[in-house]
Amino acid sequence: MKMSKRISRRQSLKLLGLGAAGAALAACAPPAAQAPAGQAPAAAPAAAAGSGGSKGKLEIFSWWTNGGEVDGLNALYDIYKKQNPGVEIINAAIAGGSGAGGNAKAVLKTRMLGGDPPDSFQVHLGRELIDTHVVANRMEGLNDFYKEWGLNDAFPKGVVDLASDKGVAYSVPVNIHRSNVFWFNKSLFSKAGLDKAPTNWDEYFAMAEKLKSKGIPMASLSGSGAGQSAHEFENIILGVLGTDKYAGLFTGATSWGDDGIKNGLDTLKKMIDYAVPNYASLTWSDTDPLVVEGKAASNIMGDWTNGFYKSKKFTDWGWAPTPGTAGTFLALSDSFGLPKGVKDRDNVIAWLKVCGSKEGQDAFNPLKGSIPARKDADLSKYDDYQKQAIADFASNKIVGSIVHGAAAKESFVNDFNNIIAEFIANKDVSATQGKLVDAAKTAGYK
Ligand code: GAL
Repeated sequence: MKMSKRISRRQSLKLLGLGAAGAALAACAPPAAQAPAGQAPAAAPAAAAGSGGSKGKLEIFSWWTNGGEVDGLNALYDIYKKQNPGVEIINAAIAGGSGAGGNAKAVLKTRMLGGDPPDSFQVHLGRELIDTHVVANRMEGLNDFYKEWGLNDAFPKGVVDLASDKGVAYSVPVNIHRSNVFWFNKSLFSKAGLDKAPTNWDEYFAMAEKLKSKGIPMASLSGSGAGQSAHEFENIILGVLGTDKYAGLFTGATSWGDDGIKNGLDTLKKMIDYAVPNYASLTWSDTDPLVVEGKAASNIMGDWTNGFYKSKKFTDWGWAPTPGTAGTFLALSDSFGLPKGVKDRDNVIAWLKVCGSKEGQDAFNPLKGSIPARKDADLSKYDDYQKQAIADFASNKIVGSIVHGAAAKESFVNDFNNIIAEFIANKDVSATQGKLVDAAKTAGYK
């Protein structure tokens, strides 16, 4: 049996006020889960796989409906079924909409407000969960399970901090995704005499000009619906502002009136000149396929794209950190929690245990394109891109994604997404910056 190659991870997490993290390795075999303090102990859970939950249902809510996302989710379900053979899994996935779960989050909120929570749901680790559902007292704390399953050692401290509010963890991260990735179609690049990714925006536009002279659009861009253009913009301002000033946008240290935001809007505006001609009608989910189909030379997108490429058996691609962001990992994470009042509570606890387990994370992430939140990945299961991502996550400066719920509260993310989506149509830099300043003030980030 291949021994898992342990990775020593020393991280300096500069994740929006998160302390530095650097922890020795640990991987504890999770002991049997006990009932959290204050509750009558549940029936002693089955010790080994294959004799777990024997009845009831488990409804899992997500926006994972295609490609590597479905493949990864099914891999988690397979492990769960082995351990809980009598439980019926209901896969309540909501397709599409603007990326980053646009439609799904709206449906979820209605259900949560209506006292009809799914048993567990995909939610971004960090401010999205805390400011939306934790402050509304809709989630159970998970500290007892973190302790029993060894998760405080299995995850880097910065990840546990992101999962927590006032020292209580509220969800279990299944992965770490990277937002700041520039993906390019190698054959299209070579048609323009290009063989590597741009490292800064001057190189980006020089390459875009060469591609344009060959009739090849550089950028895959969505102008219909919010999300993807905002994803481009969070990447651009990270590169223009730099890591610390980007992080300062959410602590008041950096004003949204800063010249860097203006430069970022000018850069996004210029990118439109090199975008696929029909960008105005494209949605978030249209943008990755364009690179696979050879209709756009590149896309700036999170590394679920790696999972998408795998699901399409597309190999003619290269990647690099988004121009100007090398050395920084713009992080986000998908997690699952325990809503208060769910019917099959034990079945949900068994689900969270799979999500946090080494077996679960090493089954899910190779298909999803992401890297495990745990420090003890079995590297032999991961491709070259993911091995580099694991190394970068361990060595780069880390900041949280806006669009994908790590850095900011959901209300600000919605404003941010909509303001940038409107900008793609109106291209009015100063008016747009003014709206961002107002949105940040409303969110208390000024
Ligand atoms: C992100 C999510 C990823 C992936 C992506 C594509 O917000 O964290 O897991 O689903 O959206 O829409």
